[in-house]
Amino acid sequence: MKLTLKIWRQATTDATGAMHTYQLDGVSEDMSFLEMLDVLNEQLNASDEEPIAFDSDCREGICGMCGLMINGQAHGPEVTTTCQLHMRSFKDGDEITIEPWRADAFPVLKDLCVDRSALDRMIQSGGYISANTGSAPDAHAAPVEKKKADRAFDVATCIGCGACVAACPNGSASLFLGAKITHLGELPQGQPERWDRVIGMVSQHDHDGFGGCTNIGECASACPKEIPLDVISQLNKDLRTAMVKGR
Ligand code: SF4
Ligand code: FES
Repeated sequence: MKLTLKIWRQATTDATGAMHTYQLDGVSEDMSFLEMLDVLNEQLNASDEEPIAFDSDCREGICGMCGLMINGQAHGPEVTTTCQLHMRSFKDGDEITIEPWRADAFPVLKDLCVDRSALDRMIQSGGYISANTGSAPDAHAAPVEKKKADRAFDVATCIGCGACVAACPNGSASLFLGAKITHLGELPQGQPERWDRVIGMVSQHDHDGFGGCTNIGECASACPKEIPLDVISQLNKDLRTAMVKGR
């Protein structure tokens, strides 16, 4: 198929960016979206033009590195990661707009790459368990109720891609934060640091310029791992309890 691609180009964080238009022919519907961009980059290389910078790593939907705003939707028209989106979701003659994640907390580094280290800083502010457990304990040594184990496992599938932030009109990372708080808060290993964790992570979230949640729900619609919106209720509940406890 033949496509018209309108792509955001920006040389550096401080440079002024703009949309550039490219024509690409011979795109197979079996290609992934990123393979389609690889083909465009080969074309640009062949004509001595600067290839388009974009992030990817596993290309299997598990690492969270990829992430593009495609026709105004985070990760494009399917509920999946950009690397798992295939060109069969588009048709011959389509015009596709491709932009980086847009959020104050995610400055553009170059073209379609943004700096998502603010998500790492949130994890460093409490999204872990610091108990020294020595060698791996037997799986049944700390019994976990099935319902809690399932819930923890489901929300632990968050890959930190940042689509929730990009989709949110407030640029909030509440879905990401809620997933991490719920994951650790459901497990016995997460209890000793539970209240300090939520205070630390929410403070870092606000410090790095993420916006507040106003229950719009775009985050959950864009999430490739289908993290449910109610993790934000759990986040707010834990935050309230931590404040009452004077943390
Ligand atoms: S909650 Fe979903 S959209 Fe947000 S970072 Fe995690 S996987 Fe990505
Ligand atoms: S490149 Fe790893 S999730 Fe897309």
